[in-house]
Parts: sequence; C-alpha cells; structure tokens
Amino acid sequence: MKTMLGIDLGTSGVKVIAVKQNGDVVAKATAEYPLIQLRSGWSEQNPQDWWDGVLSAIGQIVSNRDVSPESIAAISLSGQMHGSVFLDSEGKVIRNALLWNDTRTYQECEFITRTIGEEHLLELVGNPALEGFTAPKVLWLRENEHENYSRLRTLLLPKDYLLYKLTGRLCTEMSDAAGTLLLDVSQRTWSEEIIRSLDLDPNIFPELLESTDIVGTLKTDLASSLGLDAGVQVVAGGADNACAAVGNGVVEEGIVLVSIGSSGTVLTQTDKMRYDPKGRIHSFCHSVPSKWYLMGVMLSAGLSMSWLKNEILMTDNDTINAEASKVPPGSEGVIFSPYLFGERTPHRDSKARGTFFGLSSFHTRGHLIRSVFEGVAFGLKESLDLLSKMGVCPNEIRLTGGGAKSSLWCQILSDVLNSPVVLMESDEGPAYGAALIAAVGVGIFPDLPNAARSTVKTKGCITPDPLNAKLYAEIYPVYQGLYASLKDQYAEAFRIFNK
Ligand code: XUL
Repeated sequence: MKTMLGIDLGTSGVKVIAVKQNGDVVAKATAEYPLIQLRSGWSEQNPQDWWDGVLSAIGQIVSNRDVSPESIAAISLSGQMHGSVFLDSEGKVIRNALLWNDTRTYQECEFITRTIGEEHLLELVGNPALEGFTAPKVLWLRENEHENYSRLRTLLLPKDYLLYKLTGRLCTEMSDAAGTLLLDVSQRTWSEEIIRSLDLDPNIFPELLESTDIVGTLKTDLASSLGLDAGVQVVAGGADNACAAVGNGVVEEGIVLVSIGSSGTVLTQTDKMRYDPKGRIHSFCHSVPSKWYLMGVMLSAGLSMSWLKNEILMTDNDTINAEASKVPPGSEGVIFSPYLFGERTPHRDSKARGTFFGLSSFHTRGHLIRSVFEGVAFGLKESLDLLSKMGVCPNEIRLTGGGAKSSLWCQILSDVLNSPVVLMESDEGPAYGAALIAAVGVGIFPDLPNAARSTVKTKGCITPDPLNAKLYAEIYPVYQGLYASLKDQYAEAFRIFNK
C-alpha cells in the first residue's frame, strides 16, 4: 500500500504526517521555529528555519518503524498563507519573509486602495487591500529597502519556497496565489491590470498550477540523503485554509469549518466565485479545482491563548484548562477583545489591539484565561454572522485546529454559537488535506471530493447548553460594543507609538 507525506508549514512549527492510501495516519513528526517580532505588529520568519524544520521532520518520519520509506509515493504541502519570500537571481532568500499576521503595511494598503479603487479591487481580486496580504509586502520592500528590492527576481509564498527546495521548480498554485491580492480569483490567472497599476515587474510572479498538479520529482540528491525513493512525486498542495477544508471534508457547499489555529477562521465552499461587497469576508480559490471558498479571519485566536500562556502566565495547557474550568461562563464580567495583531474580520483594522475589559481585584488568572477562550469564540461568531448575511446556511459546523483539543474551548464555542459543533476524528487538518492532495496528484483517488469522502471521519458532536447560550447571547452585544467604543483610541495609541 502506498504512503503519502502531508506537510503543514505553520506559524509556530512544521508538521509532517505519513498517511496510507486507505486514509490511516501512521506517523507524525514536528519541528518548531521562532517568530521574529522586531516591533509591535511586525511578524517575520526565516525561510531557512522552515526548510531545516521540514528536513528534520521528514527525517523523523523516515526513521519511524511504522513507515516503510520505499512505500512513500508522493509528498504535498499545506502552508501558512500570504507570507512573502523574496528570491534573488540565484534563487537565494533576500531577507526574512513578512508573514500573514504582519500589519506594518497599512500605508501600502491605502496606496493600493487609492490607486485601484476599493470597489474595482473587489471586482478584480475578490478582496480588499489588507495588511497581511502579499502585494502590500512587495510595495513595502520597494519603499523601505531599496537595495533588497533591486535584487528581487521571484516572489514565492511560504510553502512554494519548500516546493522549490524539494524540486527546483519555481511555481505556486491557485489557493495560495489567491491570497496575494494579485490573482484574478474568478478567472484563476495573475491580474495583469493590478500588476500594471502597481508598477510591479510581471516576471517576479511564478507559474500557476492547480493544487493537485504534479510539480516534479523530488531532487535526486535530496531523495538519497533523506532515504527516499528517487521517484517520489511532489504535488503542488495548497494554502493551509484550503488544505484544512479538504482534510476536514469541506469539499461541498453547506458545511462550515471553524478552525482555531494561530489564526481563527470560519470557512465554507462556494461553487461560484462570490465576494463580500464590504470586503470583511475573504474570497479565495479552493484547492478543489473550479471551486472557491468564503472565509472570515481572526488574526489572533490560538495566538491569543499562546501569548497569555507563554508570555504572561508562563504555564502549560493542562493548567490553563484546569484554571479556566473553575470560572463560570461569562468570566464574571471579564471580556477579552482578541486583537493582538489588529484584526481582519469583522473589523478591517490593523491598529486595533487586545483589551481585557471589566477587571476587578476579585478576578483571578482563571478569569483571564476563560475570557480569552470566550473572546475568541465571540469573534468567530461575528464571522459566522457575516457569512449568514451573505446567504450561507450551514447544515453542519465542524471544528478543527489546536483549539479543538481543549474540550472546554469546544463547549464554549458551541454555547456562543448556540449550535451543535461536530468534532473530527483526525486532528491533522491541513497536513491531512495535503496528504489527500498528494494522493489525488498521483492518481490514487480520482478527485478531492472522492478522496475526502473515502477518508475523512467525524467523531461526535458537542451540543450547546441552553443556559450558557442565553448568557452568551446577552454578553455578545457588549463584546461587539467594545470595539465600537475603542476604535478611535486604538488609532490614537497606534499613532503615538508608531511615529
Ligand atoms: C488567512 C490567514 C491565516 C493564515 C494562517 O487569510 O492569513 O489563516 O493562513 O496560517
């Protein structure tokens, strides 16, 4: 039986899983790397750290005794979206990549909106100019690092850099290219009009593939140093959200996927390209060819909890969950607004910052923790509400991501959404989606919907507690009002500290 490797290039680390063609996960390995934050709102990583992490994790998989290396037929990748990998004429990285949650580019976004016009931009690429997207990062380089910009020959997305290292080919695919603000999302081609209007060199954009296309064969020297067969095929893969959708069976309309990873997302497939005329919901190409998805994005979901856990409370997940479970729903008046990196949905505001509201000396660490769980859930509800306003009528809500490992967080989400939430058997989401993409790429399944239907399984459902749901329905408008009340103060504080 053949084995596929699914790689998920995340923000805190990389995960590699080995999946048999019957869908069983037989081995997992991870490697971590640092997030480089030189200033508030800046977020970078060194692509070399990603590559070292991938080599180490593949090495662990190959030496795992449950995996026979000669059965590995294909590799594919899921990756954090939007990050800018700048390569020079020799294919060398010019500087650290600016990541999806880096919000330094607000002036470049204003420039793009002024140059193209907000409405026209939405018509052309389905999305407004948001700081995290890739186009403003290229303009930032042009404005701020002239020498680096003059050396720029190829722009890649994070996982595409790994495709390049694995095969030597410079390419991307639709689901990741859709997050650049430079792809005509409905036609699935680079937007010549945007590239021309922004005066960018069209030659820096790599070739476009679909997710299940084969990029090439693993480089021979690499295959032998990793102990893999020379014929291993590398398949294009997808953006982490598209891969998470595939890996959780979101390959048809009607299922909504809520993911609590570093970011928080609420996503659903659409058979026709659609966009939010106010630009609060993103419109991207799906990894399923000729399909799209709509998605609300919260920039700091799991990131809010890891910040509280690691930087403030310096503790571990078990303690976090134990302390929060002693606090009643509603955190006795503490409300957390999760804008540590600004926000995208529902507020397009890179200047917003996190806030704890309603503190008294009576409150404990447990209150802070529970309020973070709740604040993230409220923010995800705002995305779901916007999708509903666009006519999305979910027949099932599925939950995935690291946050789904906390049963308390799952219950809070179900109570806040006042809806059953379905849990998934495999918690490998994006890496599992990448493995299924690899399997389709080498012909093991005819297409992604078939692959997902044959392998993806759910495991139970959390139902809302009516009393908690009632309380959260009362608190929700207070949570929403906090942003409205503080918007101007966020902007003023940002001005003071970013002179
Ligand atoms: C989506 C987004 C995030 C990253 C996280 O637009 O920015 O979900 O893909 O890796």
